[in-house]
Amino acid sequence: MPEASANIGVVGLAVMGSNLARNLASREGNTVAIFNRSYEKTETLLSEHPEAEFVPAATYREFADSLQKPRTAIIMVKAGRPTDAVIDSLVEVFEPGDIIVDGGNAYFPDTIRREKAVRETGINFVGAGISGGEEGALLGPSIMPGGSDESWVTLGPILKSIAAVAEGEPCVTHVGHDGAGHFVKMVHNGIEYADMQLIAEAYDLIRRGTGKSPAEIAEIFAEWNTGELESYLIEITAEVLRQVDAETGQPLVDVILDQAGAKGTGAWTVQTALSLGVPVSGIAEATFARSLSSHPEQRAVSGDLPGPEDEFTVEDTESFIEDVRLALYASKIVAYSQGFDEIRAGAAEYDWNIDLGAISKIWRGGCIIRAQFLNRIADAYQAEPGLPVLLTAPYFTEAITRAQASWRRVVIAAAEAGIPAPAFSSSLSYYDGIRADRLPAALVQGQRDFFGAHTYKRIDKPGTFHTQWSGDRTEIEAEDTH
Ligand code: 6PG
Repeated sequence: MPEASANIGVVGLAVMGSNLARNLASREGNTVAIFNRSYEKTETLLSEHPEAEFVPAATYREFADSLQKPRTAIIMVKAGRPTDAVIDSLVEVFEPGDIIVDGGNAYFPDTIRREKAVRETGINFVGAGISGGEEGALLGPSIMPGGSDESWVTLGPILKSIAAVAEGEPCVTHVGHDGAGHFVKMVHNGIEYADMQLIAEAYDLIRRGTGKSPAEIAEIFAEWNTGELESYLIEITAEVLRQVDAETGQPLVDVILDQAGAKGTGAWTVQTALSLGVPVSGIAEATFARSLSSHPEQRAVSGDLPGPEDEFTVEDTESFIEDVRLALYASKIVAYSQGFDEIRAGAAEYDWNIDLGAISKIWRGGCIIRAQFLNRIADAYQAEPGLPVLLTAPYFTEAITRAQASWRRVVIAAAEAGIPAPAFSSSLSYYDGIRADRLPAALVQGQRDFFGAHTYKRIDKPGTFHTQWSGDRTEIEAEDTH
């Protein structure tokens, strides 16, 4: 029997898993046990990284025996059935009090289900969102763990040791119980989709409006990255736009097939928002924009549909680019505001005590949406923890006031030019909707009452009412049917 020398284990040694294992091993005080379904991968990692002094295991039994109690293992395998299979194997060899962490991109209802099932064995199960891609896993990701308070006692210091650090604070917090961590990671990804789509729309408008080359636009993004838009996604956009394809000598972006893929986390964010009744329109449009791009058969038959007659040319290049920058910033504020709204609604629905300020802080470093801007979100929630709409915080109201005219000009220009800007325009519509004194929802209520006697409320007195549309059209009091 091997000596129980490791304080943490990793199961699943594909890129994310092996990078996370190396990250753990590089931190003072950690000894890392490793296990992979095929031992070959374990051997490769051992031989490539002797400095990590990994403790290898060929079977789950050996893996369990090599871990100190309470045993703590992080699963880094594909979400879905592979995760269930590993959990089942670990449950067989672990004991009550031990901790199983799922570090994959699991769908949070699965995490809730798994936590409940594993808890019955006395073992702790923690769903932890981990963001930052391969590099983040190796050098310091942003980590969003759920699970019990008991497991956080053991897990907290280990996760803090490997997380990214932003302004002196580790980018990890105990998000809430059971599926809370994976829920927050899901919304992180939804915001990631929106952010990426907004950047893509900004690029497209500048390119088609000014005729600048990708390399020239890369410089614009690099410049934006020194101001209020400073973020990882803006930074990498400049890198991607600068890249030249070795084979053709063309900008790489021009030879990449324009069909965006998706592994599902954006769609989950939207589906969940729909059931919670939270309007995440920016995230939804970003998700749908990927779907639209990925239907070549539909795009092929639609290519001849008419667009505007006139060529799109911008008269004042500099001010157009500045308009696009401000439109991007304002739309980004909307996307984050909507994402935080979804977290607030999810927390209420699932009884999670989520600190929104703490979430914005752990997203400041390590993760894909890391940005300057998250400090401002943290400030907003610190000043008013129960803030109902993030964009009403003074900093964001000021930013939108400054950006508003540009934002409208850009959406108008896109519509007139026939350039799709679904995330820009839906964000602006959300903004105009949420600030409206009165919405045409009143008419929708009237229509619902007409065809389905769904009733309505009045602005001038309490109660629920129905107009007898097919009778004499007098109004009667009715039962509230929503
Ligand atoms: C992260 C990323 C990561 C990822 C997803 C998104 O936070 O590190 O969000 O989880 O890149 O796989 O991918 P899709 O764009 O493929 O849905």
